Formats: sequence, structure tokens, C-alpha cells
Amino acid sequence: MKPMVLLSHPLPSEWIASLEGQVHLIVGPDERPGWAPNLLEALPAAEGLICLLTARVDEALLDRAPRLRVVSNMAVGVDNIDVAACTRRGIPVGNTPGVLTDATADLTLGLLLAVARWLPQSAQDARAGRWTTWSPTGWLGADLRGATLGIIGLGKIGMAVAERARGFGLRVVYWQPRPKENKVGATYVSFEELLAASDFVSLHCPLNDSTRGLIGETALRAMKPTAILINVARGPVVQTEALVRALSQGWIAAAALDVTDPEPLPSDHPLYSLPNCLITPHIGSATYGTRRRMAEMACENLLAGLEGRPLPHCVNPQVYEG
Ligand code: DGY
Repeated sequence: MKPMVLLSHPLPSEWIASLEGQVHLIVGPDERPGWAPNLLEALPAAEGLICLLTARVDEALLDRAPRLRVVSNMAVGVDNIDVAACTRRGIPVGNTPGVLTDATADLTLGLLLAVARWLPQSAQDARAGRWTTWSPTGWLGADLRGATLGIIGLGKIGMAVAERARGFGLRVVYWQPRPKENKVGATYVSFEELLAASDFVSLHCPLNDSTRGLIGETALRAMKPTAILINVARGPVVQTEALVRALSQGWIAAAALDVTDPEPLPSDHPLYSLPNCLITPHIGSATYGTRRRMAEMACENLLAGLEGRPLPHCVNPQVYEG
């Protein structure tokens, strides 16, 4: 009998071709967040899960899946999964690091430029007939060369952003709990120094207990009034209510958010009404090649788990100890 695997949401068949003939696959009917009823019903017999970041794997779900041997997330971030609960049950959890680094770093620079140079607003003005002359003082933005980019979280993506930023002549500083050797010319500073010195603050940390709400009123008030905040990490790293006040009261100049809290952000949310806030719908990894490779890696992790091999990319390798 082939092991039963639940795939939380539909994916193109060519992305998951390696599962063909290997598993009995049950797929969620659509892209709505969560686990659809047909998947919840199948949990008691499931031996593997492949999930998107819109499907939570928590203690209650694990209790309903006693035969589970592997959880494979099609994302590098695993904050949708209770990893500690999986570890207690000896279930390895897979993720997809590395493959989305370039796409996410590219988008970060795209957002930075878009906000620094008013791209959405100026394009909209041109389309709406407000481009009536070459205005020497119209749509003035921020200079990049010589400005300071503060990166919070110098992991793979943070480093790829730093590498790109140097090409634009930005000085790069970073903060995370511990300094680390890097070849991207990023200088370690304290959290407070980073906030005070940066013209652009870009978030690249994972979401966990120490980063949840990291950017709240105190941090936003410590930033320059001309600063631009970029979040491509996870929405809850920023306190949304504080950000609304920061943007509407001028504590900082602007923000570009590819992730939000809540997510998706409801269309009537006050952030959308602020002209100095650009919001994209969590598209950091959304390139053809990247998303396909993420799905392939998720399948590789899943198959390894089902075969009792160590997952190629495992976030809780302690399950293999002892
Ligand atoms: C991830 O992999 O964690 C990203 O947020 C998805 O693009």
C-alpha cells in the first residue's frame, strides 16, 4: 500500500511529478487558507503532509494524525508549524531554504526603489493625466548612493539584499542577536544604532518569540522621520497598529510591505488608504523557477521522510538524535 499524503492546496502537476506512483495523494480543493474538510477527514490515515504557509500544523491537528511520519512545508519560514510539537512526536519538519533567496532579495530592492522613487504614485499620476509638464520639483524621491540600509537578520536573504545594495552605493549595517562573519560588507551595529542611522530598514528575520512585534512604537519612533521600512519577512514582526500611526503621523516617511498582519490584509484596512504605504500580496518568492523549485524541494523532503531517510532540509534535526 502506498503511504497516504495530504497536500494542503493544489499545485501544478509538473511541480510535484516526483510523487507520482509513490504516494496516495489527497489534495485540498482550492487555495483558501487552512485544511479543507476532505483533508481533515483523511488525517487519521495520513503518513505525510505537504503544506503551504497558509495551512497551520498545530498540536490539535497532530493529535488527529497519529500515523504521521513527516511534515514538509513549501516555504523556508515554518512559523505556520508547531515545530516543537512535531519534535516531541519524532516527526521531522522540512522546509525550502536557499532556492528563494534571489527572488526575495530582488523583490526587496524592487520595493525599496518603488517607494524611494514614488513609482506607483508617479505611474498612476501619468495615467490619470497629471503629467502636464516636466516638473523640476515633482515626484522627488530619496537618493540611494551614500544612504544607509539597515538589515535586520543577516541570513541568506539578508546577505543577498546586502550584496545587491552595495551595487547601488548603499552603506549596509545589520543587526541580529549575534554578529557573524560576512563577505557582503555589512557592519554589525546594535538594534538602537541601526534604527537611528538607517535611511532604509529592511526586515529579513524569521518570525519567532523574540521577533514577534519587534518593530512597534518604540522602534518606529527611534527611526529617522525620513526612513523607509521594508518588510519581506513575516507580517507580525511589525505591530500593524503602530505602523499605521507611524505612517500617518510622520514618525517615518514610508513603508513597503510584502507581508502583513493580518494576512491577507482586508481590502478596507487603513494601511491601504495611506499614500506612503506600498503593499504587495506576499510575492517575495513568486517567480516561475523559484516556486517550482520550492515545490520540488518539498516533495524531496517528503519522500525522504516517508522512506526513513534524513530530510535534505530539516528544521528539527534533533529528531534523528538518540
Ligand atoms: C517563505 O518561503 O517563507 C516565503 O515567505 C514564501 O515566499
